[in-house]
Amino acid sequence: MCGIVGINSSKPVTGVIINSLKKLEYRGYDSAGVAVLNDGLINETKCEGRVENLENIFLKNKNDGPVGIGHVRWATHGIPSQLNAHPHSSESVSVVHNGIIENSTILKKHLIRAGHQFKSQTDTEVITHLISEYLKKNDLKTSILKMLKRLHGSFAIGIILKNFPDVVVGVRRGSPLAVGYGPNENYLGSDSYALKTMTNKVTYLDDDEFCFIYKDHVEFYSADGEKINKEIIEVSSEQSDYDKGNFKHYMAKEIHEQPVTIKACLKEYIDQINQNINIINFPWDINEIENIKLIGCGTAYHSCLTAKYWIEQLTNIEVETDIASEFRYRKNRFKKSQLYIFVSQSGETADTYAALDLCKKNNMKTCSIVNVIESSIARDSDYVLPIHCGPEVGVASTKAFLGQLLVLYLLTLKLSVERKDVSQAKYKEKIKSVLMLPKLIKETLSTENEIQEAAKDFAHAKGSMFLGRGYSFPIALEGALKLKELAYVHAEGYPAGEMKHGPLALIEQGMPVVVIAPRDEFYKKTVSNMQEVISRGGKVLLISNKSTDEISSENLWKKIDVETVNDDLLPFLTTIPLQLLAYYAAHILGYDIDKPRNLAKSVTVE
Ligand code: G6P
Repeated sequence: MCGIVGINSSKPVTGVIINSLKKLEYRGYDSAGVAVLNDGLINETKCEGRVENLENIFLKNKNDGPVGIGHVRWATHGIPSQLNAHPHSSESVSVVHNGIIENSTILKKHLIRAGHQFKSQTDTEVITHLISEYLKKNDLKTSILKMLKRLHGSFAIGIILKNFPDVVVGVRRGSPLAVGYGPNENYLGSDSYALKTMTNKVTYLDDDEFCFIYKDHVEFYSADGEKINKEIIEVSSEQSDYDKGNFKHYMAKEIHEQPVTIKACLKEYIDQINQNINIINFPWDINEIENIKLIGCGTAYHSCLTAKYWIEQLTNIEVETDIASEFRYRKNRFKKSQLYIFVSQSGETADTYAALDLCKKNNMKTCSIVNVIESSIARDSDYVLPIHCGPEVGVASTKAFLGQLLVLYLLTLKLSVERKDVSQAKYKEKIKSVLMLPKLIKETLSTENEIQEAAKDFAHAKGSMFLGRGYSFPIALEGALKLKELAYVHAEGYPAGEMKHGPLALIEQGMPVVVIAPRDEFYKKTVSNMQEVISRGGKVLLISNKSTDEISSENLWKKIDVETVNDDLLPFLTTIPLQLLAYYAAHILGYDIDKPRNLAKSVTVE
């Protein structure tokens, strides 16, 4: 999704901006651009496609200067093209923008009537003209304040101005924006990753705040124009791990890293000597919690769905799950006894953040499970549980999913023992099992060759289905999502028992179907459903776990066994072959695995 970088320095900045934009590539984008101020002129360089294209243009024309802004765009208004790429500049103002200006159509009409000429189809260009218009009669601060009042929607904005060559302006509402501090230069970035190579000292703007970034200091202002002081935070250094190592793609690296990331997370949360989970200092009395609502988007939502089964199984707490974009617009009955848990790898997903904001405004108890601990969702929750899996670059989430599952599982265990829903003995036994996960995940990764073979049939299929019951149902949804995201093959995740109520009609000769049926309490039922699929011509790839008893099934196409572990933990293992399946299907088809078409890593618009 869109990303912003701005620098105010005494040295040329274009090269540094381009390098920082490369750090933002993981978010997913379709065009890029940079604008610099030099000798009283604004110079833009923009292109469709990759930041490398921008770099090549820059290397030829050397458009440079000491004050500049850059952007990677993920199209919302107007097609991906050079014209619609940011920055959007008039003769005197240049703007980069993340988010959506909801009243851009009406503002554009007014501005055209006032004589402004628009070049692009974007909502962003209204910002450029609106400021130019206000600057005709006002000073810079008043113009920004007036602009804030006129704009509706969510935005993070970076601005440079011909007549104010010593400043970069940052404005925020709804979309994250950070200021960074360097030696005799200061920065603006849509997140701390963008500023990573330059500084680890940052300040995050809050909604409706703006800042003037000078070379040697930064001024912050509130929505009413008052000067304010803001905290400087040192961001953690673990986020700097962006090396692909010997892997061809980040996704492959991230899949294979899972034994290590799960081990690191276990180390953070489990006191192995006392066999206890270090989830402590809840800001509320956990015995007062009667219901939990788990909220997320995409893969994070699937981890919420999996946790519902755990919490229901191991505690007496009622659980509901919700997709953030649905939750935020429904009529919610907020209950004092309810704990709201927000799951988000990036901690910046706009819908999840909006759901959190809604709960905060209704004085609810909020907890977040995030990977990026400096993120907006982490900063604004009452209680934060990081997943400690290091930066995830591949757009399709893998190691963060397992990290989310682990933290949700440990939280469930902690709640269950604290509330006396499970005995100490059972609690300790479960801790012992969970500590086995790194080894079992590593062993399960050895199914890679078999999966690679099976992936050919999925890559060339018209469509496919992923079926499971109980804990395996959310994993089926996740497996289907991965295949859609990466290989662009239609894939549907379904509860195996629900097939006969409609989707069975889709099964035709040779259709590849994944059935997730480890030897848990649902095993026999799922195998019966599998048989119904096979009888109708479905080509079944069965994901089960190692066992001495043979599966009594005829005409099974392929079977892959993950390691054996207690039932609750099976989702950690059955997920692995599904991640590999999607990876190899996309690989066979030659798609851009780390940056699938139309998708973004950090979805900062609605
Ligand atoms: C995007 C990504 C998904 C991710 C979802 C939620 O759609 O492509 O991989 O699951 O956002 O992201 P979050 O950062 O909130 O976990």
